[in-house]
Amino acid sequence: MERKVAIIGAGVSGLASIKCCLEEGLEPTCFEKNDVIGGLWQFTDIPEKGRTNVYRSVVSNTSKEMTCFSDFPFPESCPNYLHHSLVLEYLKDYAKHFHLLDCIQFKTTVYSIRKHPDFTTTGQWVVYTETNGKQASTVFDAVMICSGHYTEVNLPLDSFPGFENFKGQYMHSWEYRDPKGLEGKKVLILGAGNTGGDVAVEVSRTAAKVFLSTRNGAWVLSRMSKAGWPNDMVFQTRFLSFIQGLLPVSIRDKLLAKKFNQWFNHKNYGLIPIKSSLTYVIINDELPSCILCGSVVVKPNVKKFTETSAIFEDGTVEENIDVVIFTTGYAASFLFLEESVRNVCKSSTFLYKQVFPPHLQKPTLAFIGFISVTGSILPAVELQARWVTRVFNGSNKLPPMNRMMNEIAKQKKRLLKKGISNTEKKKESFVHYMDEIAVCIGVKPNVPLLLLQDPKLALKILFGPCTSYQYRLCGPGKWEKARNAILTQWDRVLKPLKTRVIDNSSKRIKPPLWKKIFHFTAFLGTTIFIILLYSFYTS
Ligand SMILES: Cc1cc2nc3c(=O)[nH]c(=O)nc-3n(C[C@H](O)[C@H](O)[C@H](O)COP(=O)(O)OP(=O)(O)OC[C@H]3O[C@@H](n4cnc5c(N)ncnc54)[C@H](O)[C@@H]3O)c2cc1C
Ligand SMILES: *[C@@H]1O[C@H](CO)[C@@H](O)[C@H](O)[C@H]1NC(C)=O
Ligand SMILES: *[C@@H]1O[C@H](CO)[C@@H](O)[C@H](O)[C@H]1NC(C)=O
Ligand SMILES: *[C@@H]1O[C@H](CO)[C@@H](O)[C@H](O)[C@H]1NC(C)=O
Repeated sequence: MERKVAIIGAGVSGLASIKCCLEEGLEPTCFEKNDVIGGLWQFTDIPEKGRTNVYRSVVSNTSKEMTCFSDFPFPESCPNYLHHSLVLEYLKDYAKHFHLLDCIQFKTTVYSIRKHPDFTTTGQWVVYTETNGKQASTVFDAVMICSGHYTEVNLPLDSFPGFENFKGQYMHSWEYRDPKGLEGKKVLILGAGNTGGDVAVEVSRTAAKVFLSTRNGAWVLSRMSKAGWPNDMVFQTRFLSFIQGLLPVSIRDKLLAKKFNQWFNHKNYGLIPIKSSLTYVIINDELPSCILCGSVVVKPNVKKFTETSAIFEDGTVEENIDVVIFTTGYAASFLFLEESVRNVCKSSTFLYKQVFPPHLQKPTLAFIGFISVTGSILPAVELQARWVTRVFNGSNKLPPMNRMMNEIAKQKKRLLKKGISNTEKKKESFVHYMDEIAVCIGVKPNVPLLLLQDPKLALKILFGPCTSYQYRLCGPGKWEKARNAILTQWDRVLKPLKTRVIDNSSKRIKPPLWKKIFHFTAFLGTTIFIILLYSFYTS
C-alpha cells in the first residue's frame, strides 16, 4: 500500500520533500497557499501579508556549489553567488526535472492539522485545507511541515520605551523592497543580522545618514576569501570542521576571532560581538567600507525613543530620525498544528535532530527546514527530507522515545552551558549537522576506506569544500555522477569568471626541481599525518 504524505509549502523544503517522497515510493500531496513555487525566493514588488520574500537586491550568501541540491548542480555558467531570480529559476528547473509540479495543489492553504482518532494505532493525521473559499479535509499517513520559519514578523515595539511617542515613520524589513523613498533621510536600522547589514549598506548610498544599532554586534565575513575564492568553499571543509571539533571551545573561538579580524578589526569598527558565538556571523562585502567612509554609523542598543530622537544605551542621542527600520527577524509559528503538538515545537532544539517531535507514539510528523546552519540551508533540508521519507517508508527506524528525549535534554544542557537559551536561534555547524543526518541514512562518505579505493577523491572530500555531492557517493540514493561532480566543482567556480580570457599560450615559469621535491615531501608527510589522525578519531 502506498503511504500518503501531506507536505505543507512548496518552497525549498517542500520541493526537496516531494522529490524524496517520490523516490521512496510514497505518495506526496503538497499544499501551497500561493500560486507559485519557491517560497521566499519568489520576489514580489508589493509586500503581501503572510508572505515573506526577498528584497529587490538580494544575492545569495552561500555560493552555488555549496547551495545546490546534491544531485542537481547549478548550471556551469551561473555566477558563484546568485541573484534571487537565479535561485528561483534553479528551483523551477529542479521541479520540472524531477516532475514535482504534478504533486502540488496551489492556492491551497492548510489551516489545521489534527491527529486522527486512531492515531495511536495508525499514526494518521487529518489535514484541513481551503482552496478559493472551499474547505476540505483529507486523511494522511504522514505529514512534512515545510512552511518556513520566516513567517511571523518579529516587531518588538514594546521593548523600546517611548516608541509610542515617536513621530517618524517605521517599518519592518519584511516590507522593505528597495531604498526608494529613503533618499536624503536619517535612517535608524535596528538589528545587525544579515538583513540589517544589507539594508544599511543599500540605504546608505542615498540616505543622509544611516545608524546601525546592534545589541550584540556581529562578525562580518565577506563572500570572497583569499585570492577571490568563494568563502564558504574555503572554510566549510571536513578537515577544518574536524580540527575545530578537536580544539577546546575557548581556543577555537580565539583562533576564529583572529581569523575574522584579519579583514578588519571588529573592535575598532564597533561590531565585535558580546557573545562571541558563531551564531552572530553575517555575510556582507560592503558594510566595513561603509563604516570606514562614515555612511553607516554603528550604535549600541536603543534605550529610549522620544518624538524625534533615539537615545542609546551609551547615553548618546541622535536627533531628527526620519525612519526606523526593524530588521529584528521573524519567529516561526505553526498555528495550524493542534496545540498538544505545537507546544513541543516552539523551538527546533525541542525536536529530535531538529526534525522529529519526540513525544508522538508514531513518527509520522516531521519539520523540514526548521533550522539554522552555518552554511547553506538547501543541502541540509534535502538530507532531512531524505531521512524523513526513509523513516516514513520504514527503511530507517527512529530510536525509542526515551532515547530521543535524553538526547534532546543533553543538547539543551550543552546549549545552556554555552549561555544559549532555549528560544534563542542557534546555528548548527554545517558539516557537523550534515554528517549527523547522513549517518542516520547511511550516506556519510567513508574517508579512510575511500583513501584506499580512490585516494584522489578522498583527498578532495577531506580537504576540499563539503559540497553536498559527497552524500550521493554511497548508500541509498547513490548518484553515479556524484564523483565527477566533486572532481569538477572548482571548474564550475571558474567558468562564469572566464569572461575575458587572456592569451593562454605563454608558458608558466617552472619552479626548480629541488623546490618541487621539497614541497611534495612536506605535503605528503603532512597529509599522511592528518589522515592518520582523522581515521583514528572518526573510526
Ligand atoms: C533574505 C534572505 C536571504 C537568504 N539567503 C539564503 C542563502 O543565500 N542561502 C541559503 O541557503 N539560505 C538563504 N536563506 C534562507 C532561506 O530560508 C532558505 O534558503 C529557504 O528558502 C527556506 O525555504 P523553506 O521552503 O523552508 O521556506 P519558505 O521559502 O518560506 O517556503 C514556505 C512555503 O510554505 C508556504 N506555506 C506556509 N504556510 C502555509 C500553509 N499554512 N498552507 C499552505 N502553504 C503554506 C508558503 O507560501 C511558502 O511558499 C535566505 C533567507 C532570507 C530571508
Ligand atoms: C521504500 O522505498 C524503497 C525505494 O527506495 C522501496 O524499494 C521499498 O519497497 C519501500 N518500502 C516500503 C515499505 O514501501
Ligand atoms: C544568509 O542569509 C539568511 C537570511 O538573512 C540567513 O538566515 C542565513 O543564516 C545566512 N547564511 C549564512 C551562511 O550566513
Ligand atoms: C587556450 O585558448 C584557446 C582559445 O583562444 C582555446 O581553444 C584553448 O582550449 C585554450 N587552452 C587551454 C589550455 O585552456
